[in-house]
Amino acid sequence: METIVGKDIQKAKYFLLNGDVVGIPTETVYGLAGNALNEEAVAKIYAVKQRPRFNPLIVHVADKKSIQQFAYIEKHAATLIQTFMPGPLTILLPKKDIITDIATAGSNKVAIRIPQHPLTAELLKELPFPLCAPSANPFGYVSPTTAQHVKDKLNGIIPYVLDGGAATVGIESTIVEVRDNQIIIHRSGSISGDDLTAATGLPVIILNTKEEIETPGQLKSHYATDTPLFRGNITDYFDGNITKKTAAIVFTTPAKKMSGVDYFVLSEKGNLQEAAANLFKLMRYIDEADYEIIIAEYVPDEGIGKAINDRLERAKFSAK
Ligand code: TXA
Ligand code: MG
Repeated sequence: METIVGKDIQKAKYFLLNGDVVGIPTETVYGLAGNALNEEAVAKIYAVKQRPRFNPLIVHVADKKSIQQFAYIEKHAATLIQTFMPGPLTILLPKKDIITDIATAGSNKVAIRIPQHPLTAELLKELPFPLCAPSANPFGYVSPTTAQHVKDKLNGIIPYVLDGGAATVGIESTIVEVRDNQIIIHRSGSISGDDLTAATGLPVIILNTKEEIETPGQLKSHYATDTPLFRGNITDYFDGNITKKTAAIVFTTPAKKMSGVDYFVLSEKGNLQEAAANLFKLMRYIDEADYEIIIAEYVPDEGIGKAINDRLERAKFSAK
């Protein structure tokens, strides 16, 4: 069975009503969606993605008012929902019983998000249930930002990918939780700590180190290319002696290029949003070509740049 790629919401709806999983566009990355209230459909998501069952899924809902069907919302969470949804924010909330343990991997919290992409917003509005959707990549690999990316890795395994064009944000949602009058960022994204503080007046803590990680998907060696990827300044890696076919991922056009290295520029203009939107596409492209090694330079560690550095850090080569 060839996976069909198309723009037909009714087709996507048909498969989802049938308990199947389909690729869906969001403004962050493409999701692998199934009926969040159907345990078999949710189990299918884990199977297709080859994702360990201990790693919970985000529940995507149609609108703000339906969140209360699935979770309890306190004051500051309500402000975050009001300010940032629909959009690239996921919030962890105490779950209600209607959300099954398989979706949350046994946790009493559920991750909720309202995607902003018009096709998926329309699809959610038409469906009588919310959608569990992890990023539509095989477990551990780079997230997809186009429908073709989804098909490249999952062809024949899922029936349909709803094609909504290239993701505009290009990096997964910021995952937050309000706890003890603080906002905890479990995963960096395009909505920054400053944005969150501005909206709520609350201080922000970013959980980064391995010991602190509470969202299982933030495991090391995630978002990883098959080609070994290293971080740092390209000129520090080689003292003029390039022995491997090398791709360099750089933020802007470098003043000086090393010969023997192919450069891939994230944003000619030096714009972090544009860099984020190009990141996963470039990583996949380089991975398909026959490079032996990837060196990814650091981007400015501000705003969405923190999320770019975070993903590249997790993509770093580690002996598996
Ligand atoms: O932008 C996004 O968030 C995309 C699009 C498709 O919505 N989705 C996405 O899902 O990135 P996924 O499954 O690839 O990453 C979700 C992360 C994982 O790290 C998972 O461990 C964490 O969210 N997560 C989900 N539910 C959770 C829960 N109940 N408690 C703690 N962490 C949770
Ligand atoms: Mg993912």
